[in-house]
Amino acid sequence: MTRLTVNGAAKHVDAEPDMPLLWVLRDELGLTGTKFGCGIAYCGACTVEIDGVAARSCVMPLSALEGKSIRTIEGEPDAVVRALQAAWVAHQVPQCGYCQSGMILAAASLLRSKPVPTDADIDAGVSNICRCGTYQRIRAAIHAAAQSLREAKA
Ligand code: FES
Ligand code: FES
Repeated sequence: MTRLTVNGAAKHVDAEPDMPLLWVLRDELGLTGTKFGCGIAYCGACTVEIDGVAARSCVMPLSALEGKSIRTIEGEPDAVVRALQAAWVAHQVPQCGYCQSGMILAAASLLRSKPVPTDADIDAGVSNICRCGTYQRIRAAIHAAAQSLREAKA
């Protein structure tokens, strides 16, 4: 039995210790907003935040998650995620949408550690793949979200 927190709620998961978090979320907890793309930590479709840091859930075993706090796209948005969601809408970022939950959580993690990211920071911090090629709009939306968070603090 592994105890963890998912989107603010305590969960006890009785599954194999080597089960990847992606499948714990989707198959054990019914949270299907986190997507499978490659299964080898490459594409980022499965990105969630673990204790506020982006992680590829497809290669994160349940055994590493005792006591951890996980945020998925289904979680109640905090200020950072809310700012990103608003910027995503304003910049009409999504196309097919498949990569987008991972993109938003990767962007959230980036803004928590770098409130004023450069283009290079975004490229390094959000290395997720978008088959629809929304990279320019993602970059613009992250800058806009960062700006709105700064204005909210001023
Ligand atoms: S499914 Fe996890 S990185 Fe591609
Ligand atoms: S919006 Fe289609 S893969 Fe990114």
